[in-house]
Amino acid sequence: MRLLFIGFGTVVQGLSELIIQKQEQLKAEYDLDLTVVGISDMFKGSLYSPNGIDLKQALEAVRNGDLKSLPNQFAGDAPAMIAEADADMMVEATYTDIKTGEPATSHIRAALSRKMHVTTSNKGPVALFLPELKKLADENDVKFLYEGTVISGTPLLNLIRETLAGSHISQIKGILNGTTNYILSEMEEGKPYEEVLKKAQELGYAEAVPDVDVLGWDALAKITILANAVFGVNMKPDEFACEGITNISNEDIARAKAEGKRYKLIGSLKRDDDKVVGRVGPEQIDLSHPLAGVMGATNAVTITTDTLGDVTIVGPGAGRIETGFSILIDIIHAGGKR
Ligand code: HSE
Repeated sequence: MRLLFIGFGTVVQGLSELIIQKQEQLKAEYDLDLTVVGISDMFKGSLYSPNGIDLKQALEAVRNGDLKSLPNQFAGDAPAMIAEADADMMVEATYTDIKTGEPATSHIRAALSRKMHVTTSNKGPVALFLPELKKLADENDVKFLYEGTVISGTPLLNLIRETLAGSHISQIKGILNGTTNYILSEMEEGKPYEEVLKKAQELGYAEAVPDVDVLGWDALAKITILANAVFGVNMKPDEFACEGITNISNEDIARAKAEGKRYKLIGSLKRDDDKVVGRVGPEQIDLSHPLAGVMGATNAVTITTDTLGDVTIVGPGAGRIETGFSILIDIIHAGGKR
């Protein structure tokens, strides 16, 4: 399977490490031989080689700066590479713009139209245009996969789509943003907001512009993706109420704790007949509730079904290898033989 990487930031670097590490396992278990033919990154440079790019060399080069001194330079930008490349699947991992979904959405439309499978961890295009992109993928007989957009490699979307197949889901509720959960957890220890936000950025949990996390927009994008993917609606982020954590002080957190409660930024969706309602906002959760014990950057989601009652999945929601892994899951689903 020939892969094209659009964006070579943390997520795709994590994916590259996994591809190097798991090369033999992928061949043995899934008959999957992965060759990266192109890398296009706005800042780090672009490479193209139909015979395959040396991933170890590319990782080493970006550790020391960029790709610009390596062989197989490609002169064009990302749209040019997508238009010209001979590839089976595109990995779209440019920066997330939750308001416009660009430039990622244009990249995805172009790749699907050229009959490439697409996987993305980019929430913008999926929150804003999922029904359209799914239709375009179907028309071109390829897959559009996006496991990494919601709680990274912790397999929430696959769990719902495959493992809970046949269940009627009435509610989805949980901690969908690692950065804010980490901040609230640390603030409970008495640390000031600014200090823990900075630490969350250093640890690589926060988005490039951390407003996206602390104002609740990242969780909002995720509930929009879940609404459209799970409930089959065509809703936009602005149809949900959204409040972040910026108004919560250390004193509020201590007061809640004294009353046996803990603040969590909760995203929730409920299906009533054909209508889906949802919101993102801080809630004081009883300490005995399963979501109250989920601390740090960990995410957790409870799915309410007619078959099993409540099913809760807990796992990492952010990180280099974790999100890289989500992309690997999609690549295996698109090209592996099981
Ligand atoms: N900034 C996001 C989070 C990354 O903190 O959850 C994963 O979407």
